Amino acid sequence: MSWLVSPKGKRYTVAQMRWVTNHEEPLVRTVAVSRIYRRGVDEIRALDRVSLEIPAGHFVAFMGPSGSGKSTLMNLLAGLDRPSSGEVWVAGQRLDILDEDELAAWRARHVGLIFQFFNLIPVLSARDNVALPLLLTHLDKRERSRRADIALRIVGLQDRASHYPRALSGGEQQRVAIARALVTDPDLIVADEPTGDLDARNAETILSLLRRLRSDFGKTIIMVTHDPRALRFVDMAFHLDKGTLLEGEEAARAHEAIVVAASGGVVGHVLP
Ligand SMILES: Nc1ncnc2c1ncn2[C@@H]1O[C@H](COP(=O)(O)OP(=O)(O)OP(=O)(O)O)[C@@H](O)[C@H]1O
Ligand SMILES: [Mg+2]
Repeated sequence: MSWLVSPKGKRYTVAQMRWVTNHEEPLVRTVAVSRIYRRGVDEIRALDRVSLEIPAGHFVAFMGPSGSGKSTLMNLLAGLDRPSSGEVWVAGQRLDILDEDELAAWRARHVGLIFQFFNLIPVLSARDNVALPLLLTHLDKRERSRRADIALRIVGLQDRASHYPRALSGGEQQRVAIARALVTDPDLIVADEPTGDLDARNAETILSLLRRLRSDFGKTIIMVTHDPRALRFVDMAFHLDKGTLLEGEEAARAHEAIVVAASGGVVGHVLP
């Protein structure tokens, strides 16, 4: 049984959280998902039988030390990668049985991606960057631009639509990237360390913007982060360690350590 830990440290079982969310089917569900990377004879078990559920309309953080499997798990949920074993369900679709082409087509319709280093195309304006995912649809250029402008308005950058990425600050570039993730109106938005390359003030802006996508638009957002401040913005945090999802007391302890870090507290050590 997995525990979901709310920002206030309150723990729910998956069953309780499902009750809390009015018996809705979870948007995301994994069943004993493992991902093994093979290099020659070496095997790296990046994820080991992870089972979790994420209700629709929640803003969720994946936390844990470097190498604990956060990005690996996020990539599976975003349809960027497939598991070695186990089931991955997102928005009613089972992903682990799709082939590469089916997965790419599914991803284009259902997932918005946000990266640490923004990944904007330097020779395209903000508007054209945002409109890019719509090239895979049947919409004409005028409609693509109109939707890009709406997405830019949501992130507060409507007056920067014709600017190129190099003329935007890091925080603004990340807001353009968020608009690009939004423009297809995806079921799921995933963000891998979206504040990792930003200063504290811009990080807060991005976290509250993601929070607003959840509150105002009902988006489900999964964010990989090392940032303890993120806990103030998310509905719940999953804690990973060495490829496994921490549960029960272990999860609560990991959570508490991050809460202490976020409040600037120092854990004292008893000297011998
Ligand atoms: N393509 C790959 N080939 C081989 N091993 C990989 C590959 N991708 C990840 N790994 C390994 O899988 C484990 C989990 O990696 P992952 O990138 O998911 O960690 P992470 O929690 O996101 O870490 P970080 O916080 O540093 O980004 C690590 O041991 C990593 O070295
Ligand atoms: Mg990572």
